[in-house]
Amino acid sequence: RLASRKRQTLAPFKLSQEQLQLVKATMRAGLEAGLKNKGPSAVKMLPSYVYHTPDGTERGKYLALDLGGTNFRAMLVKFKKGLQNNTRLYHKIYTVPLEIMQGTGEELFDHLAQYVSDFLDYMGMKKAHLPAGFTFSFPCEQTAIDTGILVSWTKGFKATDCEGHDVVNLLREAIKRRNEYDLDIVAVVNDTVGTMMSCAYEDPQCEVGLIAGTGSNAYKKAETSETSKMCINTEWGGLGDDGSLDDIITPFDAEVDHNSVNPGKQRFEKLTSGMYLGEIVREVLLDLTRGGLLFRGREKQCLCFDRLALLQVRSILQNLGLDSTCDDSIIVKEVCGAVSRRAAELCGAGMAAVVDKIRENRGLDHLNITVGVDGALYKLHPHFSGVLQETTRVLAPQCNVTFLPSEEGSGKGAALITAVARQKRDR
Ligand code: BG6
Ligand code: GLC
Repeated sequence: RLASRKRQTLAPFKLSQEQLQLVKATMRAGLEAGLKNKGPSAVKMLPSYVYHTPDGTERGKYLALDLGGTNFRAMLVKFKKGLQNNTRLYHKIYTVPLEIMQGTGEELFDHLAQYVSDFLDYMGMKKAHLPAGFTFSFPCEQTAIDTGILVSWTKGFKATDCEGHDVVNLLREAIKRRNEYDLDIVAVVNDTVGTMMSCAYEDPQCEVGLIAGTGSNAYKKAETSETSKMCINTEWGGLGDDGSLDDIITPFDAEVDHNSVNPGKQRFEKLTSGMYLGEIVREVLLDLTRGGLLFRGREKQCLCFDRLALLQVRSILQNLGLDSTCDDSIIVKEVCGAVSRRAAELCGAGMAAVVDKIRENRGLDHLNITVGVDGALYKLHPHFSGVLQETTRVLAPQCNVTFLPSEEGSGKGAALITAVARQKRDR
């Protein structure tokens, strides 16, 4: 009875090939609806005002600021001439406290200005008046490379008086209020854009950026948009906000959405990104516990397949103050596996839609393409990257997709975009 109850609970997380094909088709329709620009759409397809991948002629010193992942990062990037490895990077990481993420906009941007001040002190560059690129990993309507109107916060941020405002201006004003150093903010970019650019510097076949981290998003290079020749930030995390994913959404997902700071929004992101997977697992475990399947203190001989993972699960449960048996650990591990496998498969279905669209736009039977990837879920989860790759391969059989992990986050890419934008502006 217990085994069948567990099977029943986990069954909706196991997606069939047909269901994954449907998600791919839904993503494809979402990408196309977003490009048509007729009113708001779930997949926003925001223009980035970035037209080219880097060509290796970029030179100089740039500051890269990065808000929207697990941490805020400040980075100094130097591009030099003629060397094989011609980039130098120095960076510092700052944790943005929850009360600042969810306080007033002024406090948030004052905090960022303070982190930048600390970084410039650390580098001994307070007087430098550096050109800066701002990676701002939230949906922004851009009308130029150096303006970005925040459409809506995602990933747990909800600072007031920012939505509908130009985030470059908000940062410039905070720096002015501080009246201590000067920056020339030349570009604002999404993390997917920065990641793709970082990777394209190494591999010219890199034409897509993917983030599987706190949030989930993909980005694609120019000539793939029917409406313009510009790189597009898909904001695919919003897929399903119009109900198009309701068939695969489980009651556990619905609960996680309901308890989030943005109910009804970012439905695809809430199935696929690091910020929510733990919450989904928690909801499933609560349900199994209520059903008497978990944490009843039954001790049994451990079935020690994959022993290390089970021991890790058990020690995590113990740290949470949960007195667990070996059976409990096995169940918890199965739940985590089902939830994270589904996330990777859904991400693969989304990626299959993106690369197949690029292939078809170019009228090709076969496409070789590289996807630059970043995010803790991709880099740290033991199986996510493998499942993502396999699902993309099966669902987009005419594309040969290489996933290239970004080495230094999106900062280098943001600096490259800044270099190009400044050259153009000063010409
Ligand atoms: C970083 C990028 O490396 O990866 C960020 O520079 C991005 O811009 C982040 O948001 C995603 O990772 P995570 O897992 O911290 O959300
Ligand atoms: C969220 C943001 C998006 C970002 C992604 C990954 O989906 O809306 O802009 O790229 O998270 O960080």
